[in-house]
Amino acid sequence: FPSLVGGFPSTPGHVLPVPALGADRISRPVSARTPTGPDYLQRGWQRLLEEGESWVACRPEECPTPRGCLAGMVRDPCDCCWECANLEGQICDLDNTNHFYGQCGDHLECQLEAGDPPHCACRSSQALCGSDGRTYAQICKFLEVFHAHPEANLTVAHEGPCESEPQILSPPYDVWNVTGQDVIFGCEVFAYPMASIEWRKEGAEGLLPGAHPHISAQFRGGPQKYEVTGWLQIQGVRVTDEGTYRCFARNRVGEAAALASLTVLTPDQLTMPGLSLPRPRPGPEDDAESEESEDYY
Ligand SMILES: *[C@@H]1O[C@H](CO)[C@@H](O)[C@H](O)[C@H]1NC(C)=O
Ligand SMILES: *[C@@H]1O[C@H](CO)[C@@H](O)[C@H](O)[C@H]1NC(C)=O
Repeated sequence: FPSLVGGFPSTPGHVLPVPALGADRISRPVSARTPTGPDYLQRGWQRLLEEGESWVACRPEECPTPRGCLAGMVRDPCDCCWECANLEGQICDLDNTNHFYGQCGDHLECQLEAGDPPHCACRSSQALCGSDGRTYAQICKFLEVFHAHPEANLTVAHEGPCESEPQILSPPYDVWNVTGQDVIFGCEVFAYPMASIEWRKEGAEGLLPGAHPHISAQFRGGPQKYEVTGWLQIQGVRVTDEGTYRCFARNRVGEAAALASLTVLTPDQLTMPGLSLPRPRPGPEDDAESEESEDYY
C-alpha cells in the first residue's frame, strides 16, 4: 500500500492505524488522568490490538453488522465500519473521537467530572412520555428502549412525563409516642400533573389541621421532579389525637391514599410492667424502594 507511506492514507476512507500512532495512543490515556482499572481499560487495549492487526484498506462490504446498539452507531476509528456507540455512563474519549474508549451515541456527550474517568452523559434532562404510556427520564433513556425493541415502533408522545394518577412513593408510617411529644407523618407522592395532598383523621369531620392549633400541615415539591411531599405535624400529642390518619393525594387523572396510625401513651402507661411497644418506625432513609422507581424519578 504505497499510499500509507508517511503514516497516513492519501485516500479518505482507507485505513489509519499506523504503529507509530498506536504507540502514541498507548501513552496518552494511560499516563494522563485515568486511574488504572483493568475493566474499563480493556476496551481500549483490545481496540489497539485489533487495530494493530488491521493493516488493510477499508472494505465496507466486509464490515460486521453491529447488532443491539442501544445508543445508536458511530464510525469506527478508521471511519470505515459502523460500530455501537457508547451508552450513558460508559467511558469515552474526551476529544469526541472514537480512538480509545469510544464515542458517545446520539444526545450524549463525553463529560469529565472530578475524580472519575470521562463518561457519556445525556445532554437533556427533560422527561418524555413515550407512545407506550411510560415516562422516560430523558431522550437518552428513551432511545435505549427504542433501540432495544425496534419492533415496538416506539415514538415520543409528548415532552414531559406521561399523565399519571398519584402514586404514593413513601407513605406515612405508624407511630407512637408519649403525651406531650411531637409527632410527624410524611407522605411522598409522584403525579403529573402535580398532586395536591390532604390529611384527614378517620372518623372525624373535615380536613386537618382544621381548628386544631397544635396540628399543622405543610407540603412542598420534591424531593424529585414531579413529586410532592406533605407532612402532618402534631405538637404536644394528647390522648385524643390517637387514631388513624390518612394522606390523600389527588390530581385530575386520579387519586391515592395511605393510612397510618398514631398511638399515644401516657407516662404512666409507659412505665407499666409488661408493656410491649411497637418497634420504632423505619425512617424514610431505610425505605430504599421508594427512591428506586425506574420510570418516575
Ligand atoms: C411496527 O411497524 C411495522 C411497519 O409499519 C408494522 O408492521 C408492525 O406491526 C408495527 N409493530 C407494532 C408493535 O405496532
Ligand atoms: C417521641 O417524640 C420525640 C420528640 O418529639 C422523638 O425524639 C422520639 O423519637 C419519639 N419517640 C418515638 C418512639 O417515636
